[in-house]
Amino acid sequence: MSRKPLISGNWKMNLNHFEAIQCVQKLSYLLTKDDYSAVDVSVHPPFTDIRSVQTVIDADELLMQLGAQHCHWEEKGAFTGEIAPAFLAKLHVKYVIVGHSERRELFGETDEMVHKKVAAVIANQMTPIMCVGETLDERETGQTEGKVLAQVAAGLVGRKPEQVSSMVIAYEPVWAIGTGRNATAEDAQAVCAAIRAEVGRMFGAEAAAQIRIQYGGSVKAGTVADLMKQPDVDGALVGGASLDPDEFARIVQLGR
Ligand code: PGA
Repeated sequence: MSRKPLISGNWKMNLNHFEAIQCVQKLSYLLTKDDYSAVDVSVHPPFTDIRSVQTVIDADELLMQLGAQHCHWEEKGAFTGEIAPAFLAKLHVKYVIVGHSERRELFGETDEMVHKKVAAVIANQMTPIMCVGETLDERETGQTEGKVLAQVAAGLVGRKPEQVSSMVIAYEPVWAIGTGRNATAEDAQAVCAAIRAEVGRMFGAEAAAQIRIQYGGSVKAGTVADLMKQPDVDGALVGGASLDPDEFARIVQLGR
């Protein structure tokens, strides 16, 4: 299987643009060429930092890739406070997180909005990292697969198999995000395998074999290696632990 793992740092609403530059520079001293040949690494700063981080990445020819945390689906217009996908593409953003559970829960993002955003990100030649995941209540009442696969189907319906092949899905159990609790490697594997099977049903074996599926939720240096050993886990979406360049570099190196 030729899926190169992707480890992404989701900084959420942390680090101003000065702090972001420092974080990226420190990370660049810690990661080696071998790391980048084994794993793709992306950082997802807040919007106000993206231009600064892009300048550092381009000027120093860093091998890490730039990501965003969110965008709107329209090209332009009267959407106060929103950011168009084309603005991100112009800043060499490669990956855009779509439908993070914090956006879904705190800002009312629906499956329909996620679906439109996935389409818009792809139309602007960037790669969506589409987040899916169940709440604690859903897990405890045996609804994990039903919930997650419904989110996968709603987000991807109507896309072409070759578009889905190059996408990323992040499986993030909501109860594991920022809580210090994470799914066991076996649980993560089971859900990621079910996601891959659903992609196979919708888009065929080729798309299922190629799509990358990350696990996210309290990933740390101490837990990443077991997760990455699982056959259907192709990377990690890391929140809190990605704010510390030493810890994030260890996660990349242990996740290789
Ligand atoms: P966490 O966040 O690693 O802090 O749990 C993960 C995420 O929300 O992407």
